Amino acid sequence: MKLNGTHTRSIMRTDDGKGARILDQRDLPWKVTWVDLRDAATAERAIREMWTRGAPLIGATAAYGLALALAEDASDEGLDTAHKFLLEARPTAVNLRWALDDVAAHVRPLPVAERAQAAFARADQIADDDAAMSEKIGAHGLAILRDLHAQHPDRPLNILTHCNAGWLATVDYGTATAPIYMAHDAGIPVHVWVDETRPRNQGALLTAFELASHGVPHTVIVDNAGGHLMMNGQVDMVIVGTDRVAANGDVCNKIGTYLKALAAKDNDIPFYVALPSTTFDATTPTGADVPIEERSGEEVTHVQGEGGAIRVTASGAANPAFDVTPARLVTGYITEKGVSATI
Ligand code: MRU
Repeated sequence: MKLNGTHTRSIMRTDDGKGARILDQRDLPWKVTWVDLRDAATAERAIREMWTRGAPLIGATAAYGLALALAEDASDEGLDTAHKFLLEARPTAVNLRWALDDVAAHVRPLPVAERAQAAFARADQIADDDAAMSEKIGAHGLAILRDLHAQHPDRPLNILTHCNAGWLATVDYGTATAPIYMAHDAGIPVHVWVDETRPRNQGALLTAFELASHGVPHTVIVDNAGGHLMMNGQVDMVIVGTDRVAANGDVCNKIGTYLKALAAKDNDIPFYVALPSTTFDATTPTGADVPIEERSGEEVTHVQGEGGAIRVTASGAANPAFDVTPARLVTGYITEKGVSATI
C-alpha cells in the first residue's frame, strides 16, 4: 500500500515489538493517525468500534489481540477467555474466528511461559501470509482485467466496486483492489466507480482515499447509481470483496452488494468476488447461515464527514450491515489459488 508515496502496511508490530500498530480508519481520509494496541481490551475495542475493519485485517488484528491477552495471562483459562472475548467483537467476517483458532491451536501445546511470544510470531505470520495472498489475488485478477481491456483497447476499463476491499481492509494490496492496482501499474488504463457505501461510507472515505494515494482514476457515486451506469454501458466489470463465503458459494459482503450483483446479472456484466482462502467457511452451509451484524441505527441517522457528524433524518433507523449474494450471481471467485467459477 502506498501512503504519501511510501510502501507500508495497515498493521505492524510496534517499535518495541510488544504491541500492534494500526491505522485509525475513523480519521481517514482527513487525517492519518496510527494507534498502538497494547492490551487485548483495546484490540477488541478497535475491532468492535471499527477503528480497523475489513475481514482479513480484522483477523490479523484479533491475532495480535490474542497475543496481547496471553502476555497478561497465558494459562489455558486465559487463552479460552481471551479467544471468546475477541471472537464476540464482530460476528460476520469469518477471518476473525479463523485467526483466533489458528493462533490458539499454535500456542496451546506450548509451555505457558512460551505462549505469548509464540502468539506474536504467529500473528506476524498471519499478517505476512495475508499480504502474500492479496498479492497473488492481484496477479490472478490482473489476467481478467487484461482480457477485458483487450475487448475495448481504445478506452479505459470501467470497474465498479462496493465498500472497501482494499489495503485498508487487508494487511496490504487489498482483495478487490489488488487487480486494479496491478493493472494500473502495468499500464492498463482503469477507471473505478466507487460506491459511497452508506451508512459508513467506506467507499467514499476509504476506497477513494486508497485509489487517490495510488494515482488510480476513480469517481465516487451514490449507492443507487450503479444500476443506471451498468444499463448504459459504463461498467465493464464489478469486483467486490467478502466477509464470508459459505460452503455453497453464497457471498456475504457489505450491505448493498446483492443489488449490484442483480444489476450486473441483468446487464450481462461480469461480477467477481475476490477473497483469500481464510474468508471461505466450509462450516457454514449457505449464505442464510451467516450471522448478519446489526449495527447501531445512529450510523444511518447521522453521516460522518470532515469535522464531525450531522443528523440526516428526524426518524430512527435499522442498520443491517451485510447482505448475501447468491452463488448463481457470481461470475467467478478470485483467490490466491486462481480464478474459478465455483468455490
Ligand atoms: O464493516 P466492514 O467495513 O468491516 O466491512 C468490510 C467489507 O464488507 C469488505 O468488503 C469485506 O470485508 C472484504 S475486505 C477485503
